[in-house]
Amino acid sequence: MRVESLTPHIGAKVWGINLAEPMTDETFAKIHALMMDWSVLVFPDQDLSQEDHKRFGARFGALHTHPMHQIRSDIDPHILKVKTTKDSAYTAGDGWHTDVTCDEKPPKVSLLYMKEVPECGGGDTLYADMYLAYELLSEPMKQFLQGLEAVHDGGLPYVGAYKSTPPEGGYPVSTHPVVAVHPETGRPVLYVNSGFTSRIKGLSAFESRALLDMLFRHIESTPRLTARVSWAPGMLTLWDNRCTQHHAVWDYYPHSRYGERVSVIADERPSAFSQTQIH
Ligand code: SIN
Repeated sequence: MRVESLTPHIGAKVWGINLAEPMTDETFAKIHALMMDWSVLVFPDQDLSQEDHKRFGARFGALHTHPMHQIRSDIDPHILKVKTTKDSAYTAGDGWHTDVTCDEKPPKVSLLYMKEVPECGGGDTLYADMYLAYELLSEPMKQFLQGLEAVHDGGLPYVGAYKSTPPEGGYPVSTHPVVAVHPETGRPVLYVNSGFTSRIKGLSAFESRALLDMLFRHIESTPRLTARVSWAPGMLTLWDNRCTQHHAVWDYYPHSRYGERVSVIADERPSAFSQTQIH
């Protein structure tokens, strides 16, 4: 395996591995360790069937079914199609977000396999490092955010932006800590995102809006948080959804782009970080 970093702190390209082939535990452990180090891994030049894609995803844990997925026997519940054409009203993920944080246990890893890229170029995905987003906040702000909880509402993107009809009982709504601890690295992450986070509990509506807008602006306006992935057909990118956000750039209208995403359910709910966890 050859590894080439995209930036000094987030994102790496991994060469010399065929993800369609059976994978030894040792190779998987190396990939997992790379994910802990780089949060986003790009595997160019893959040739994967949907079964290969799901088999690789399942090495990380149980596969996730997206809340917008209509359960039909002709649709695979574990493959989320990410398709944009000239007739699309929106493109999935066109805004900074962490995948499906409305779930109690949001996906821990997502793996997007690109099949078609816009012929005009563009259609990149930006990734942002939420470890660094937290680190760059001032000490008083870090202190203030610790212990706060926020509401993550699936209706915000799926009804508000995508105009889909909610399932019976509505889309999931969950509460998560504003500063979470990554369960494997033990590092703190800023855990609010403009896709799903609707309010911070215990604050007035005005305070909550102002604080969320400030944190979203911090993410949007700090280029050093980000790595940019330029896709080619046959490229698979996986991201650790517990410490990153991403933004799919829709700059290629009226051209098309098509990929398929597999996500993996987290083993536990996000838990709060507290200063005492630093030894
Ligand atoms: C997503 O998973 O949010 C879509 C990402 C992309 O299409 O680049």
